[in-house]
Amino acid sequence: MNKIYNNIEYYITCSRGLEEVTAKDIMPYCNKITRLDDGGVAFIGDKKALYNVNLYSRTGMYVLKKLDNFKSHSLDDLYKKVKNYSWSKLVKKTSTIAVRVKSDSEIFTNPNFCTLRVKDAIVDSIKDQKNFRPYIDRKNPDYSIFVFIKDKDVQVFLNSSGSPLFMRGYRTKIHKASLNESLAAGLILLSGWDKETPFYDPMCGSGTIPIEAALMAKNVPPGIYRNEFGFERWKRFDSDMWKQCLDDAKNAYIDCKAKIYGADVIEENITLCNLSSRKTKNDLSITFRKKDIRFFQPKSNKGVVIINPPYGHRIGEEEDLEHLYKIIGDTLKKNCKNFDAFIFTASGELTKSIGLRTKKRLILKNGNIDCRLLHYEIVEGEYL
Ligand SMILES: C[S@@+](CC[C@H](N)C(=O)[O-])C[C@H]1O[C@@H](n2cnc3c(N)ncnc32)[C@H](O)[C@@H]1O
Repeated sequence: MNKIYNNIEYYITCSRGLEEVTAKDIMPYCNKITRLDDGGVAFIGDKKALYNVNLYSRTGMYVLKKLDNFKSHSLDDLYKKVKNYSWSKLVKKTSTIAVRVKSDSEIFTNPNFCTLRVKDAIVDSIKDQKNFRPYIDRKNPDYSIFVFIKDKDVQVFLNSSGSPLFMRGYRTKIHKASLNESLAAGLILLSGWDKETPFYDPMCGSGTIPIEAALMAKNVPPGIYRNEFGFERWKRFDSDMWKQCLDDAKNAYIDCKAKIYGADVIEENITLCNLSSRKTKNDLSITFRKKDIRFFQPKSNKGVVIINPPYGHRIGEEEDLEHLYKIIGDTLKKNCKNFDAFIFTASGELTKSIGLRTKKRLILKNGNIDCRLLHYEIVEGEYL
């Protein structure tokens, strides 16, 4: 194969704080990681790398194929340079397109104007070269084009994932405070869990963290339950290669060596957990129970606990939540000696009520919200 096809430039976006685990996670499937940015990782690889990174990345959001990059100093110049790209080679007559622009620039201050100009440039380019106009479909396009602008630097990408990769396809109903699946997987990777030590989430809501842990432990790729990836609609989609990737993945499932537990105080949440777990059509071997955290008493003598407690902002809730965080701390001290515990929350204030010294704290983004993952090593002894 021509060398150039082995070295296509790609970029995978992820939540801030997950760049390193994202890079490590996709390393086996690509030729080389070339750069870590805030919220993304650049890598090179071939078409198979693109398929596999979409299938296997546990923490990524979108896998993007780089089409072009240039400097631009005005909207007209942006239009001209985007129009120069050979768009007509990419799309079919029946293809639909959508454009999304993210801009951090004093020149390109209005992303809506940029989006319009980029869209016009693509449509005009195809019309000039092939005499047809592609349709615009913002919701479910065949070709979704992402443009990132930083000052004068413009990068043009094609989104190969379609819907974001956290949309795994195993969810039934959504719990109102559920974590997105990619972030949940990121917390597990950041915890350094070895996939054998007993694993607990005693406030599991809809079960995102235990389900992601079980998929990891069984070597089930997170993308295996999706109906579709964006690249499956591309003109040069290689269905044989993709089928081979899926077959290889299914042949590599292993038995889960760890005991995985999830609990929540609300019965309906446990029903949600079981529904999602069943939808994976894979025996995930997770035990879900209705239980209040104050009665959380693991039987193993070591373990990894990841907790994502509520951190609501409604007036009057603070005191209740302070009490809940104190209960979490007391339970960990009393019943989880020799465990590694991790708390993921947006509230620095509430974590003071836990009453434990952090070993490490990592700053992460959950959407636009600043959050932290706090690591507590629970040791034998008296706590003041
Ligand atoms: C932020 S949500 C967790 C969301 C979860 N990570 C997910 O992805 O679905 C916090 C959960 O803590 C549960 N919870 C609140 N108080 C609890 C308690 N005392 N014991 C156990 N669970 C509790 C709530 O029912 C809620 O589902």
